[in-house]
Amino acid sequence: MPKEINRFPKHFALRLIDWQKKSGRHDLPWQKSTDPYRVWLSEIMLQQTQVATVLERYPRFLERFPTLKSLALASQDEVLAEWSGMGYYSRARNLHRCAQIVWHEWGGQFPEHVDDLITLPGIGRSTAAAIAVFSFGKKEAILDGNVKRVLSRLSGFEGDLSKSGDTQLLWDAAEQLLPETAQQLRSYTQGLMDFGATLCVPKAKCLSDSQQCPFALECKAKQEKRVLELPRKMKRVKVQDLTLEWYIPVLAQKVYLQKRDESGIWAGMWTFPEQLNKKSNSSLELEPLVHVLTHRRLQILRTVVLGAKLKDDAVGRWFTYEEALEQAIPKPVKDTLKSLMKLAVTL
Ligand code: ADE
Repeated sequence: MPKEINRFPKHFALRLIDWQKKSGRHDLPWQKSTDPYRVWLSEIMLQQTQVATVLERYPRFLERFPTLKSLALASQDEVLAEWSGMGYYSRARNLHRCAQIVWHEWGGQFPEHVDDLITLPGIGRSTAAAIAVFSFGKKEAILDGNVKRVLSRLSGFEGDLSKSGDTQLLWDAAEQLLPETAQQLRSYTQGLMDFGATLCVPKAKCLSDSQQCPFALECKAKQEKRVLELPRKMKRVKVQDLTLEWYIPVLAQKVYLQKRDESGIWAGMWTFPEQLNKKSNSSLELEPLVHVLTHRRLQILRTVVLGAKLKDDAVGRWFTYEEALEQAIPKPVKDTLKSLMKLAVTL
């Protein structure tokens, strides 16, 4: 199978910039500023969260933590609580650590160079490049999942993206395609993101029949009817099935949560006890929940325990439902609390 990258459409960068001006996304709140704090925050949020959700959460986060300093000096609990509901909480922990490092070790200024940015927690090569382009006008290539798909399809790239050598070929291509000026680089980079998000979309679709694609005539994947097959990724992420048991102590309109330690899933967040030794008067089973993470499919068995006399201690605390909802809690805890609030009248 040939692995080399075939030719890209002529004047690829300039045509993409042209497309971005006419059909790309403008006026997203994070496009209004070159402030590295704001650019960095938006890029971290957009790594695994949809634009529609980020549009809601980004301004809210900035209201809570308006500056790098305010974020760096906050507690991890406060940051996780603000991140609550967006998932992938290691992002929030890295965000906090990154803010602390930039504040204490870089004099409060984000470094400008990709090689330095990449040393910071949560910032990979593509995110580093996006920050360098959008904040500092540097000539750097991004290559996130969307861009891998766009470049693979346009050029008919056969490489296996679960192999680092093949991915490196795409990085080389991404670098060769870059335009020259800082202004062009910003529109081009935004154009690549927008093109991948709105036209050359995943799930085996190509929207060029219903929307004008500037590369419809030259796209190798489209010509060869292989949009379905590209990009190629041989190694699938293995999803492990796991069952969790939650015991949910409820007493006098309050609910008991425990803060998890700093390792494993939901590190540092509040969830329900997974073991309970205390005697209780009665219990009640809730419907099991299924919660899917990148590498795990969790089945969560939930037992509401009524009348267990637990004391607040180093890890566990009683909260009112309203207080509990304001803590750093993962989505299944939030959903459970909402169900309990509905049940509370009848409990
Ligand atoms: N996805 C990642 N970064 C983005 C950005 N700056 N704008 C829109 N979508 C993105």
